[in-house]
Amino acid sequence: MIRLESITRSFLLGKESVHVLNGISLSIQSGEFAAIMGPSGSGKSTLMNIIGCLDKPTEGEYYLGGENVSHYNDKELARVRNQSIGFVFQQFHLLPRLSALKNVELPMIYAGVSKKERQARAEEALMKVGLADRMNHLPNALSGGQKQRVAIARAIVNQPKLILADEPTGALDSKTSMDIMEQFRELNAEGVTIIVVTHESEVAEYANRTILVRDGMIQSPAVLDRGPSI
Ligand SMILES: Nc1ncnc2c1ncn2[C@@H]1O[C@H](COP(=O)(O)OP(=O)(O)O)[C@@H](O)[C@H]1O
Ligand SMILES: [Mg+2]
Repeated sequence: MIRLESITRSFLLGKESVHVLNGISLSIQSGEFAAIMGPSGSGKSTLMNIIGCLDKPTEGEYYLGGENVSHYNDKELARVRNQSIGFVFQQFHLLPRLSALKNVELPMIYAGVSKKERQARAEEALMKVGLADRMNHLPNALSGGQKQRVAIARAIVNQPKLILADEPTGALDSKTSMDIMEQFRELNAEGVTIIVVTHESEVAEYANRTILVRDGMIQSPAVLDRGPSI
């Protein structure tokens, strides 16, 4: 589903070029549950942004579902994101003035879904993450774990084949973190490919594969295979 070939990403800071990703080659198959680990500043988020079509590589090729998306323009990348990818972030990124339900409806507005269907699908997604009784709450009135469930509902509402989560449990206590990881495990069991960036080995244990990033490279041994997830 995902194939990265010799991906680099550099940023120009003044006259100096900062090399953040230094030649990443990586394949992730459909249906995998992968964890990306590595020290702070090693390039994990930069890599996730490229995988999520939020950013483009400086060099190298990126194939997503067989499409070479490396040279897509912003509009084409936006289409790929909206159709194929769900995102979950550490800080939830919910709009504070919108209810849980309206937040979950947002990706469907961009996808051009009718109002009636939007509401029905948003309700269904919120029920799936266990928030049937919190749909009309504003984000402020929800706990961290509940906010992250809303974000997961928003991520799944367009039925993406791929979910990218960048430190999704970074702002949560350990019990809530495990609840959130259970949600990802259930989605993975339904066939959704999941990639989670994390610092915590308890979180990474939910994945069936761990990818180590260091200094913008995949660290050898590239992949620690643990077999099927528990
Ligand atoms: N837009 C940018 N411009 C300049 N430097 C950046 C930019 N984005 C990330 N970096 C740098 O790239 C390095 C890796 O960042 P990041 O991918 O966020 O690491 P991680 O997620 O592993 O902590 C950091 O040193 C960061 O400062
Ligand atoms: Mg990061």
